[in-house]
Amino acid sequence: AGIYRAGALGRRPVVPVAPGLLAARAARRMTATARAYVVGSAGMEHTARANRTAFDRWRIVPRMLRDVAVRDHSVELFGRTMPSPLLLSPVGVLEMVHRRADLAVAAAARDLGVTMIVSNQASTPMERVAATGVPHWFQLYWSSSDELVASLVRRAEAAGAEAIVVTLDTHMLGWRPRDLDAAFLPFARGQGIAQYTSDPVFTELVRRRAAAPPTGPRPRPTPAALATLAAMSRGYPGQFLANLRSPLPRAAVDVFLEVFSRSTLTWADLAFLRDHTRLPIVLKGIQHPDDARAAVDHGVDAVMVSNHGGRQIDGATGSLDALPEVVSAVADRVPVLFDSGVRGGADVFKAIALGATAVGVGRPYVYGLTLAGRAGVTAVLRHLRAEFDLTMGLAGCTSIREVTRETLAPSPR
Ligand code: FNR
Repeated sequence: AGIYRAGALGRRPVVPVAPGLLAARAARRMTATARAYVVGSAGMEHTARANRTAFDRWRIVPRMLRDVAVRDHSVELFGRTMPSPLLLSPVGVLEMVHRRADLAVAAAARDLGVTMIVSNQASTPMERVAATGVPHWFQLYWSSSDELVASLVRRAEAAGAEAIVVTLDTHMLGWRPRDLDAAFLPFARGQGIAQYTSDPVFTELVRRRAAAPPTGPRPRPTPAALATLAAMSRGYPGQFLANLRSPLPRAAVDVFLEVFSRSTLTWADLAFLRDHTRLPIVLKGIQHPDDARAAVDHGVDAVMVSNHGGRQIDGATGSLDALPEVVSAVADRVPVLFDSGVRGGADVFKAIALGATAVGVGRPYVYGLTLAGRAGVTAVLRHLRAEFDLTMGLAGCTSIREVTRETLAPSPR
């Protein structure tokens, strides 16, 4: 109500309320490389579009005369009562769009009691984000180094993370033409590797590497890596060379590129993580109901239906299209979380109605951060929350429990 009244009284919002305008203004404010990285998706961006059209397949059917004056948005998750079902999905390399990066996001989230999922590729060490007092989970990219995985998880626990989110869909970086055309890989510049450079295990690996640089023949690059390098060099040799002249010791970047992820990971490896943490484990990137069942059978505490905002496989299913089957498969046993494509409060409503317990947003808060730092993130979150609240009330719901499949109908074709 406060937001509406302020608008009606002629006060302009801090950042645009209209999602399209928010994205467009923020994109204009970004450097070309940031724009490519943040706005871009995989391939021809079919999946990024599918994430949006998936929401169009559902219509909200409002119910009348139900006394909806008092509405409760709170949800229970991992022993915490959250004031709303919103989460901040993990986004790496925020230093590209704002100097205060993760710290600005954390302050906004803390003020609103929103849980922030702190990225493994953040620009700020997790301990500094935690020191803001924001409720948070830590997102892990499962490194090829067991020692590093154990160290990151140990640090997350010590810093007060309330869950570990393992992102499964990015054991290799997707084919992202906009980044390739901009000849840009943030990590090669030493951006987005603060969780590593602040880690004792990683630091030791770098020290050893710097003391004894590898000799002998270099390992043969894969065809995919060669294609990437070819595309990066074509037309942009200067930029590409600049990327390689990293501000960090070359060894740190080299070690990072070696330990970043593990494509050999299988279900059996989850036991290692279970043995190394008492925190709830969330698997992010689940799209198939059988994978959701396997996750529960392997003892995880929640799954997150996500396709990384369409940044990994071009042509993958729209994320919301994958949600109902995952919900049918496991929602009676573990919470099902959701992200990818959420742009407004009505989208949040639909995902909850289809069975999600909580809903993550990615790009929208990055746009807020770009335009107005902490205040911009706060504004974006308040807009989402306010639209969700209005949608609930107008649909005839007074609590999240009432936001069920019964509130939706498939769109007429
Ligand atoms: C991401 N995402 C992501 N996910 C993750 O697990 N770790 C990460 O470091 C990142 N980094 C990242 C950077 C940028 C610029 C974007 C846009 C996304 C994916 C993110 O958590 C989330 O799944 C999507 O952003 C959700 O889609 P929307 O809301 O952006 O459509």
